[in-house]
Amino acid sequence: MSADWWRQAVVYQVYPRSFADGNADGIGDLAGLLDRIDHLVELGVDAVWLSPFYPSALADGGYDVDDYCDVDPRIGTLAEFDALVARLHEAGLRLIVDIVPNHSSDRHAWFVEALASPPGSPARDRYVFRDGVGPDGDQPPSDWEAMFGGSAWQPVGDGQFYLHLFAPEQPDFNWDNPEVRQEFLRVLTFWADRGVDGFRIDVAHALAKDLSEPLPSHAEVEQLLDGHSPLWDRDEVHDIYAEWRELFDRYDPPRIAIAEAWVPAHRRPRYASADGLGQAFNFDLLETDFEAGRFREIVTTNLALAAESGSSSTWVLSNHDVVRHPTRYGLPALATDEPTPPSAGVRHQNGRNWLNSGAPADQLDLTRGLRRARAATLFMLALPGSAYLYQGEELGLFEVADIPDEARQDPTFFRNAGVDVGRDGCRVPLPWTPDGSSYGFGDDGAHLPQPDWFGRLSVAGQVGDADSTLELYRAALTLRREWQTAESLEWLTPPEPVEWTLAFRRPNGWTCLTNFGADPVALPAGTVMISSQPITGDEVPGETTVWLHD
Ligand code: GLC
Ligand code: CA
Repeated sequence: MSADWWRQAVVYQVYPRSFADGNADGIGDLAGLLDRIDHLVELGVDAVWLSPFYPSALADGGYDVDDYCDVDPRIGTLAEFDALVARLHEAGLRLIVDIVPNHSSDRHAWFVEALASPPGSPARDRYVFRDGVGPDGDQPPSDWEAMFGGSAWQPVGDGQFYLHLFAPEQPDFNWDNPEVRQEFLRVLTFWADRGVDGFRIDVAHALAKDLSEPLPSHAEVEQLLDGHSPLWDRDEVHDIYAEWRELFDRYDPPRIAIAEAWVPAHRRPRYASADGLGQAFNFDLLETDFEAGRFREIVTTNLALAAESGSSSTWVLSNHDVVRHPTRYGLPALATDEPTPPSAGVRHQNGRNWLNSGAPADQLDLTRGLRRARAATLFMLALPGSAYLYQGEELGLFEVADIPDEARQDPTFFRNAGVDVGRDGCRVPLPWTPDGSSYGFGDDGAHLPQPDWFGRLSVAGQVGDADSTLELYRAALTLRREWQTAESLEWLTPPEPVEWTLAFRRPNGWTCLTNFGADPVALPAGTVMISSQPITGDEVPGETTVWLHD
């Protein structure tokens, strides 16, 4: 196996509780996934990234881990996990697992021990405990806010508070503690020895912290960038990854890792460098509107950043944290061209504000959204580097906007009442068949309610329909394999009007043209390989991507 397999790989994210349910309890599991490997093979992806499958109380969809070296009994067993690795490898697919090193869950044995131990004890030192402040010592050590809303400090009843950058059920580890470092080396070894090919590192930019006093205010933290924040993107975090890299490189082929680091673009190369994690997510495309100028700038910037790190660029349009792209693109453009928020820790909520109670349905144009999504996907899949797909995007699924409050699960919803509906709308169990119990997801319901239109977008409902989004993805991924080429592109002068169109050529003569405008543009010379909308005559319709070769 080539050690470089990841550089231009297409990686498919499985959110296991919502992929396929093998034992009829409404929750997706490894048995369901084992049963559907053919879907991934026929789709033509190179690897699977499996979101957390560890024992968890699901305070944050599994990103609150009770035990890093086991499988949630509701999801399966270690034996099934081993079977998954074997089956994927047999099918020529690789497996990347999610590692959540910034925080454990509050049910993790270490945190339980910390709570049972006195202030100042070694058990508390594995997490971030501080004394309360104020005249009575009952105030949190600072005014820091958690990512999911509310204070980032939780009192434990004996005068101390612990830090949680996310939900209170997710206490942050103290990465200055050698035991924590040792433990994660053990966890990584555990999975690498079981044959996993790589790791997706959750909140990779938050592990190293500087809590020396006086603690800056929340407002100050938001402004402290480029390694100066006490919480985010500190340079010392790379010492941790250098140690991990040594471990990864002891395997043959070396294990890969990809950083989920919401940092300003110029800070990304260090995470992606060969002596660090090796790759980093680039979320720029998913944070921008469907607009030619922005797309071109993002591609140019990220190819330069990839060259700087020696890694390949990554591209993402959807994942389990953001509004699905066919819905985003069906919404009106952001009122202002909001720059990425100043704090590296702040996540851009593109689209979520539109989906709050009283979602302006009249402003949502799903036909247009899907049309643009198909064009953006073909654009992304023609780029040099590695593309990360999120389960269900191959079906053209929209965000499910109308989940009743009582069915919601995401802590973002509960901690930001009326402000943010949260991320459940992109985590609804997948439709496999046009009808039947939970549209073929399983034999007894689904843990989040599926809308009526899911049947129409089911896998079985699309297979064989040449116009379907599923067949578009399959055909595009097949062509992408056939047209494997070096990691570069050359921008071409696009057809008029140039401000609406982008065209680039890969070294092997494969060309991609996207018409971002509403009106048709001239079809350039060449043989059409695939297009996101039917091409008639010599015109590329509005909001359409076409691939050509000489
Ligand atoms: C990452 C995950 C997200 C999770 C958070 C806390 O951003 O993608 O789903 O809520 O980390 O672990
Ligand atoms: Ca199940």
